[in-house]
Amino acid sequence: MSAVRSQHRAAVVAGLGGALPEHVVTNHEIAARLDTTDEWIRTRTGIRERRRVAPGQSTVDLAEEAGRAALGPDGHADAVVLATSTADQLCPATAPQVAARLGLGTALALDVNAVCSGFVYALATAAGFIAGGMAERVLVIGADVFTSLVDPDDRTTVPIFGDGGGAVLLRAGEPGERGALGPFDLHSEGELAKLLWVEAGGAAQRVPENPKDRFMVMQGTAVFRQACARMAESSRAVLDQAGWMVGDVDRFVGHQANIRILQATAKQLGMPADAVVSNIDRVGNTSAASIPLALADAVADGTLTPGHRVLLTAFGAGLTWGSTVLTWPELS
Ligand code: UT7
Repeated sequence: MSAVRSQHRAAVVAGLGGALPEHVVTNHEIAARLDTTDEWIRTRTGIRERRRVAPGQSTVDLAEEAGRAALGPDGHADAVVLATSTADQLCPATAPQVAARLGLGTALALDVNAVCSGFVYALATAAGFIAGGMAERVLVIGADVFTSLVDPDDRTTVPIFGDGGGAVLLRAGEPGERGALGPFDLHSEGELAKLLWVEAGGAAQRVPENPKDRFMVMQGTAVFRQACARMAESSRAVLDQAGWMVGDVDRFVGHQANIRILQATAKQLGMPADAVVSNIDRVGNTSAASIPLALADAVADGTLTPGHRVLLTAFGAGLTWGSTVLTWPELS
């Protein structure tokens, strides 16, 4: 593949799938255990219930199920890019195990960790593989078992996070066709890393000095403000690069962190409330799985249909954030 030709290859969405654990955790169950109420959680976050993995079920299981659904029967991919910050092991990455379970032979496979922005980062990584001629069909998965990072005694994080997986299959195609991704806008700000932080478990502090150090600590209000500002800023940047006006966007699929964040961001952008796609009431914040799960639910309930112009935008720990656009394709 010549370099000139490869510059014209776009990554086109060709499959979509989601995976949720069966076990539902309601607000009432959380309120029975922690100092909170169903009413507080609903009104402050928009969440009614979330899913939690069964004992023995992990990120690789959710990634496999979502990936299989996106591949479809007889589907093939020559690369797997898996966005997760809750890999089954610290080493090796989870993606090669998922590729093996899906029967993808010796497919290129790697994990991408940009936490809740991971799926958009993984789409960009996969689009780069396709543009560079290194892959023809890439399975992009976002899967997280975030409940493994949540302190069961922390009322700030327990109500918010849930487990899930979502995936899209990308194939090489033409920039102008329906389903073609891009441009991308991606950023980070490591100076604010401690706003959402897990102290121990990595190389800096392998064994937690304090048992609670293996859990995520979140400065909720500061993260809320950053999420709204960065998703709005990135959305504007990507629309500008794409040559789209805000009014061109039919569906705004933002990271499902809090319904108030989605609504505030849409309002800042001047987007109508009915453009906002959300399934947060049923799944909570599923981190890297959030955007593909929202897409899968929106397609299933008819909210998202072929021809809709879609803006994807995400924000997460790191801090990281990013956006892309596409016109939704017909999927078989
Ligand atoms: O995926 C990216 C990462 N995460 C996010 O994007 C999450 C971003 N942050 C948020 O969604 C919100 O900040 C939260 C939902 C975490 C918190 O909502 P908030 O409106 O920012 O509430 P707050 O932290 O300002 O707390 C308001 C009050 C406080 O009480 P006082 O000081 O006013 O008496 C909190 O102690 O609500 C209290 N509070 C709770 N009350 C009942 C905090 N958590 C709870 C709770 N139940 N679960």
